[in-house]
Amino acid sequence: MARSTPARTRGGVKVPSGPQIYKPSIKDELADRYSAALKQYLRSFGEQSLQEAYEIGRQAISGGLCVTEMVTIHHDALIKSLIPLLVPEEQEGKFRVPNGDGEERETPVLQPQERKHLVKSAEAFLDECLMPFEITYLGYVEANEALRMSEERYRELFENANDIIFTTDLLGNFISINRAGEQATGYAREAARRMNFGEMCAPESQEAAFRMLNRRVMGEYPGPCELDLITRDGRRISVEIRCQLVYREEKPCGIQAIARDIAERKRAQESLRHLTEALEQEAKRIAHALHDEAGQLLASVHIALESVARDLPAAQGERVRGIEGLLDEIEDQLRRLSHELRPTILDDLGLAPAIEFLSQGISARTGVPIVIEADGVSRLPAPVEEALYRVMQEALMNASKHAKATSMTVTLRQQAGEFICKVRDNGIGFDLRTALTDNTERGFGLINMRERLKFVGGTCVITSSPNQGTEVLISVPLENRDAAQNLTG
Ligand SMILES: Nc1ncnc2c1ncn2[C@@H]1O[C@H](COP(=O)(O)OP(=O)(O)OP(=O)(O)O)[C@@H](O)[C@H]1O
Ligand SMILES: [Mg+2]
Repeated sequence: MARSTPARTRGGVKVPSGPQIYKPSIKDELADRYSAALKQYLRSFGEQSLQEAYEIGRQAISGGLCVTEMVTIHHDALIKSLIPLLVPEEQEGKFRVPNGDGEERETPVLQPQERKHLVKSAEAFLDECLMPFEITYLGYVEANEALRMSEERYRELFENANDIIFTTDLLGNFISINRAGEQATGYAREAARRMNFGEMCAPESQEAAFRMLNRRVMGEYPGPCELDLITRDGRRISVEIRCQLVYREEKPCGIQAIARDIAERKRAQESLRHLTEALEQEAKRIAHALHDEAGQLLASVHIALESVARDLPAAQGERVRGIEGLLDEIEDQLRRLSHELRPTILDDLGLAPAIEFLSQGISARTGVPIVIEADGVSRLPAPVEEALYRVMQEALMNASKHAKATSMTVTLRQQAGEFICKVRDNGIGFDLRTALTDNTERGFGLINMRERLKFVGGTCVITSSPNQGTEVLISVPLENRDAAQNLTG
């Protein structure tokens, strides 16, 4: 709205005279509205005027006006609306006062209670207008209290957490560290604040640490990262770190990280690795005993029976030879069992022939055909072949034990940087979550699969749904020699 104005004062601001464009401020507009509404209220005392007062208050807040400005507006409006009611108009020598239904009446004398009522009404009008300010203030107080309490809760969590929690700026310079962090690293808060996170990492962990922080700063969501920290007195602690960005005014301004001491977990993993190795050795020993010693014994029994058969009359001799046929079958079974227990074929010829041999055995026992698809598969490091063999063995055993499948497929594939194995069945499927959490009859197969693969840096994804069969997808990165060497070393 633009209009030309003569010289006058509006809302306490002097407007220069002369023909010029004057654009009223929000304060001016509200002052005009306030004055008109108050005038109307003092005539009719109507609810509508009070609503207008409330609305003016609301708009004043969104227009950025403060309470003192509203009081100034109120006073200006009082001068315009109330004073004329209280001062006698000279020409008529009488008071003109509202009679409450919007009309005015003339009275020669304004009674004290009538004066009081008018002044009180103006006060009520101001109260109504300031109501939105009051509500906003109360909301602000409540929000402030909620913020204070949430900060207190955060501080309590931060301080009392068992994990190390710290914050850094985007370059990794420490801003804060909790009590657990102080205790674990030996650095007091003040000392830590003069350090960069990199300085706390073991030299070989620094690159991984910064890669993780940088990826997070770039907006990615890197998974947890395992690294070693060096404490103030030179000890090493293995931690698993997760980090997230801290934002101020929607811009990332720092990093909050939680580091969990995984020494215990590492020890357990190491024990498990030793146990697995020991079991593998034991399986090798039993396999050899079955294959060589039991095989030798059976061969001796063969020779003995043959000589007994020769000494017996023809009819009895034939019956003894029948027993020899059964012995052949036992020998064959023992040979297969010994190979499944510790397939020398895995060491001699590699994963694909060993899986083929294993599948033939399972297929012969269960009557379920197993299709093998293995193209261009070359030899892999021994620990990787061993882990893959055991994991696929478990997947095949599970399919033959639980799936009620009528066919199974095994796929082995080597592709850019990784080795992929798949075991699929067309059986009844199962609910993986239940299988892993059901404590009543939980097996170890699925858990072992994951653990064995972890040693060689591999992963296993199982997809299964009722009556849709099951697919076990195993992948191992081929460049990850470290993990492979862990097993041998
Ligand atoms: N291919 C599959 N089809 C249907 N159910 C399966 C399949 N694989 C696993 N399961 C279900 O998951 C459960 C857990 O399997 P897991 O290998 O861990 O234990 P298990 O085979 O019962 O015992 P263990 O392997 O210790 O001898 C099984 O009991 C079975 O109910
Ligand atoms: Mg199993």
